[in-house]
Amino acid sequence: MSTVLRVSNLEVDFVINDGVMNSPLRGVNFEIKAGKTLGIVGETGCGKTLTATAIMGLLPSSAVQRGQIEFADHGVISNQQMAAIRGSEITMIFQNPQSAFNPIFTIGAQLTMVAQRRGIADIATVLTARLESVGLRDPQRVLESYPHELSGGMLQRCMIAMALLSSPKLLIADEPTTALDATIGDQVLQLIASLQKREGFAMLFISHDVTAVAKTSDEIAVIYAGRVVEIGPTADVMDSPQHPYTRGLLGAIPSADKARGTLVAIPGNVPSVLTHVKGCAFADRCSLRIDTCDQEPPIVRIGNQSVACWVVKS
Ligand SMILES: Nc1ncnc2c1ncn2[C@@H]1O[C@H](COP(=O)(O)OP(=O)(O)OP(=O)(O)O)[C@@H](O)[C@H]1O
Ligand code: SF4
Ligand SMILES: [Mg+2]
Repeated sequence: MSTVLRVSNLEVDFVINDGVMNSPLRGVNFEIKAGKTLGIVGETGCGKTLTATAIMGLLPSSAVQRGQIEFADHGVISNQQMAAIRGSEITMIFQNPQSAFNPIFTIGAQLTMVAQRRGIADIATVLTARLESVGLRDPQRVLESYPHELSGGMLQRCMIAMALLSSPKLLIADEPTTALDATIGDQVLQLIASLQKREGFAMLFISHDVTAVAKTSDEIAVIYAGRVVEIGPTADVMDSPQHPYTRGLLGAIPSADKARGTLVAIPGNVPSVLTHVKGCAFADRCSLRIDTCDQEPPIVRIGNQSVACWVVKS
């Protein structure tokens, strides 16, 4: 199966005021094969959206980006090359569908503009079929509606329709269900999975919600303070998490059989992006810490999982 996206040693620094450096991405590595989903999970501020923004070549000019992005048959791709295929070969959906649409134009006018840019022929037929494919039963009414006339769930489906108009090779979904209630969120996840099965695009699925990532993804990458600390097939990571942070994160999933379904928080906080992290960034919160953890942890292979830790053993 061909690799659609390979991210190698991705790092991002921002120069903020007076030359002070903020280093929110410190080492992100993964690849995604055609038709497969990689889920990125981690606490707020750990660098999930930044990873997507860097892949799309959309970082602000204050950012310094290092590492390599390889995409489909383009090989290593520059931000300029990415700009040429962004919106066609790679598309994105995100948390707030309202921000994907201009409130003063109908959905139909906006989808038509995108279809024209993509050179699609017979636009009316394509848009109707596309809206039906995302489960909108009355496409004509949706096309004639303004964004505020649709519910959050319907607008989310319109955003998915827009992202898939160009038959992308990769769909990046950044917290696509976070703003929706649980039932609608589940329906959207099922919809995306069935569209992926039918259309074969690869997906990068980003969420702070491990349950949503586990439902959606073939592989999971756990990110902490800008580094991938564990990556492997979803079943392996969920059944047998190896990194102390992954174990803590899975312990924090609310479940019916845990007392009162309350979250078990991991003690401590994610280090500030301004803190110069020497060695393992999780050390302040880790009960397994040893002296060597002051140095950059090695990547240890355990079965099909890769884990950045001094203590776990293969
Ligand atoms: N334009 C910027 N300038 C400086 N720092 C930035 C900028 N954008 C992001 N950052 C830093 O990058 C870090 C990671 O942000 P990111 O948005 O990727 O987090 P996230 O994992 O997506 O969190 P959330 O779950 O809240 O969406 C943040 O802590 C923030 O300080
Ligand atoms: S490297 Fe050390 S501090 Fe970091 S997770 Fe492993 S044991 Fe804990
Ligand atoms: Mg984010």
